[in-house]
Amino acid sequence: MAKVTILGAGGWAIGIAVLLDNNGHDVTMWSAVSTEVKSLKRHRENKISLPGIVISEKIKVTGDLDESLQNDPDIIVLAVASKFIRSTSKLLNGKVKDGQIILNVAKGIEDGTLMFLTDVIEEEVPGSDVCVLSGPTHAEEVGKLMPTTCVVGAKSEKTAKYIQDVFASQYFRTYVSPDMVGIELCGALKNVIALAAGMADGLGYGDNTKAALITRGIKEITRLGLAMGANVSTFAGLSGIGDLIVTCASMHSRNRRAGILIGQGYTLDEAVREVNMVVEGAVSAKAALELANKYKIEMPIIEEVNKILFEDLPVENAVQDLMLRQNIAEHPELVWNK
Ligand SMILES: NC(=O)c1ccc[n+]([C@@H]2O[C@H](COP(=O)([O-])OP(=O)(O)OC[C@H]3O[C@@H](n4cnc5c(N)ncnc54)[C@H](O)[C@@H]3O)[C@@H](O)[C@H]2O)c1
Repeated sequence: MAKVTILGAGGWAIGIAVLLDNNGHDVTMWSAVSTEVKSLKRHRENKISLPGIVISEKIKVTGDLDESLQNDPDIIVLAVASKFIRSTSKLLNGKVKDGQIILNVAKGIEDGTLMFLTDVIEEEVPGSDVCVLSGPTHAEEVGKLMPTTCVVGAKSEKTAKYIQDVFASQYFRTYVSPDMVGIELCGALKNVIALAAGMADGLGYGDNTKAALITRGIKEITRLGLAMGANVSTFAGLSGIGDLIVTCASMHSRNRRAGILIGQGYTLDEAVREVNMVVEGAVSAKAALELANKYKIEMPIIEEVNKILFEDLPVENAVQDLMLRQNIAEHPELVWNK
């Protein structure tokens, strides 16, 4: 049995709490948001983020960080929205042991610094053993114990396998990988492609358009990832194409839902207000474009999404820009035998 403290009490935090409690682990949840703590204590449910999923009485819930850490947890799971990863990590500084395992499950790139979230955590909690879990894992389905797969990235095989064993169950299959860069990049950028996929839906386009965005989207992400030192295999894996498929196809995806509204004529602000949740793809879109420029990588879908979100380019014009780009080879690395 592992002692696990989950920081955050939104949808994914609760999905993970249900999963780990079912696996027989000792689970504590903490949230900085007092209404969440009250609601979870009283109703055992976050009626806003994950209605209908009730957590067991065994799971401890607190708004006091010291209390959530007092049993010396084996694993701390950081499950807050990506924009709160730094502020939440800062709170841990000086409160955890050297080598503390901190598992990031948020998806994003920090605005401004362009840092991956695991690097942000490591900067704020030096000496910790930071790892990442990602993949096609909608909390709505994990909370209902539907078969799901994911990948755990860590600096050491020992830590990756430990997390794998703690999370693995008959309905949650975990794989391990040393490619943290690839896993984190895919997790952040799939939200940008999901915005584009939603926009296509909002315009009334069909499955062909969606397949085009998914396939050419992973190509762009792969190009950037390779330049940043990721391994090509990751893009064909669960955190890569797997998560991209689910995010572009599912109504559970808030990024896709925001995209649909934008495709229907809403502005980004109006869409975010309507979805009423953090739309991380909008932040990641800017970061992705900055990374593309930094590494001199062509990322046409990411560029058009940025123009739509931040330069008021009509979505239809962006579609035309993409469709009428110069004709090129699908895989420039494949050439005819002379
Ligand atoms: N929901 C999913 O299915 C899912 C699956 C995989 C990964 N993720 C990732 O997990 C992260 C969290 O997603 P979510 O769906 O649980 O989001 P959510 O909006 O349901 O929850 C975000 C949580 O952040 C925390 N928070 C809010 N304000 C805070 C503050 N000021 N300081 C500290 N914490 C604060 C709260 O606990 C809040 O519930 C995101 O990065 C998301 O991309 C989500």
